[in-house]
Amino acid sequence: MNDQQTNKSWGGRFTESTDAFVAAFTASVEFDRRMYRQDIAGSIAHARMLTRIGVLTEADCAAIIAGLTEIRAEIERSDFEWSVALEDVHMNIEARLTERIGAAGKRLHTGRSRNDQVATDIRLYLRDAIDAIGMELKRLQGGLVALAAQEAATIMPGFTHLQVAQPVTFGHHLLAWFEMLKRDGARLADCRKRVNIMPLGAAALAGTSYPLDRDYTAQLLGFDAPTANSLDAVSDRDFAIEFAAAAAILLTHLSRMSEELVLWSSAQFDFIDLPDRFCTGSSIMPQKKNPDVPELVRGKVGRVNGHLIALLTLMKSQPLAYNKDNQEDKEPLFDTVDTVLGCLRVFADMVPALRPKREIMLQAARRGFATATDLADYLVCKGLPFRDAHEVVGKAVRLGVETGRDLAEMSLAELQHFSPLIENDVFDVLSLEGSVAARNVLGGTAPARVRAAAAAAQQWLAETE
Ligand code: ARG
Repeated sequence: MNDQQTNKSWGGRFTESTDAFVAAFTASVEFDRRMYRQDIAGSIAHARMLTRIGVLTEADCAAIIAGLTEIRAEIERSDFEWSVALEDVHMNIEARLTERIGAAGKRLHTGRSRNDQVATDIRLYLRDAIDAIGMELKRLQGGLVALAAQEAATIMPGFTHLQVAQPVTFGHHLLAWFEMLKRDGARLADCRKRVNIMPLGAAALAGTSYPLDRDYTAQLLGFDAPTANSLDAVSDRDFAIEFAAAAAILLTHLSRMSEELVLWSSAQFDFIDLPDRFCTGSSIMPQKKNPDVPELVRGKVGRVNGHLIALLTLMKSQPLAYNKDNQEDKEPLFDTVDTVLGCLRVFADMVPALRPKREIMLQAARRGFATATDLADYLVCKGLPFRDAHEVVGKAVRLGVETGRDLAEMSLAELQHFSPLIENDVFDVLSLEGSVAARNVLGGTAPARVRAAAAAAQQWLAETE
């Protein structure tokens, strides 16, 4: 990084050079250089539009496009000297362009300001990021659906208050995760609609006197439309806040999944085996195999929540239009993108490798009177009001607690002692298989429903490819 120069882009009215620390303090190039592709794409579209309206000559336009294309290649082969004195990615690239092509480079900034330029770059960057996140999200969802289809009839305890509640199928549990992620994808897709609006042409804050064809530039850059108000265009970062909020909810979901994976892979639950390649050992305890990946993902939600608060706080109370505060939008935004992408990637890799321990899950569902509600429902079918049925089953459970047995382990005579309505067919509902199969309602845990839900999810994934 070259920090010897003084910025000549705006130096005209200054009588002394910038304080060295102030130059470094106010510069953003260290982090905004990652938007070089978007900056170059925006400049090429702007130059094309200026040429179309007769502000630039064809020759200047050709030189600008060739120059910017070469600069992009320079950056990509790390042959570009970034300068702190040139503050940011925008001025670094523009200065290099002028160095390469001369006067034509100085004409590029006609009818444009860094204020609309940076707002455009971030939106292009975020649009690409949302698309990349969408792909990883779908990959993870694909893994969940495949595993769910395979485990549609695998019985495990379902929990409320982390106490055994009712038996469910593992496939059903995995599809709950799928639904959570589906809403996250929808939130991001909706956010993308507001991201994909083009600020270019708003110039510094008031628009410009050049007869810009903003629709044309928007079309070249794949934006849905140009922004409708120049003051709003250069100043608001609500789209970034919205993205961060969607990201925070997504990571909240991943943290909940992580927590369950951590629990399930513990010796106490032992429901799943996490493959070794997603775990690490301990330097002191030779027996340890730690679920680092889900633990780390669980922890990552903290930084993303922090970025959301940072962006909200950054925007709060800012007067119109652009303020330098907004330069602080990038690091939280970039780190949010990196974090979400990393977490999704590792999860998408890990989920297909999860190995459920079916027999242990089944045994766990046998503990905790998971079919008590089924017995109550059985009595209701035989004509008992639900509240009375609840009372009857409660007494049977008490006997079970006292004698250390599940309801299914009691004899018919014992059960009939609690209600004469109980007959031999009671054992159909007291079995775990009978219990889950009975929950054959739309959205329920019955294996048949889970298979149908997995098939529908698979089809949805294929259609939204
Ligand atoms: N680096 C600045 C940012 O990220 C670019 C816009 C600067 N505009 C200005 N008038 N100082 O926001």
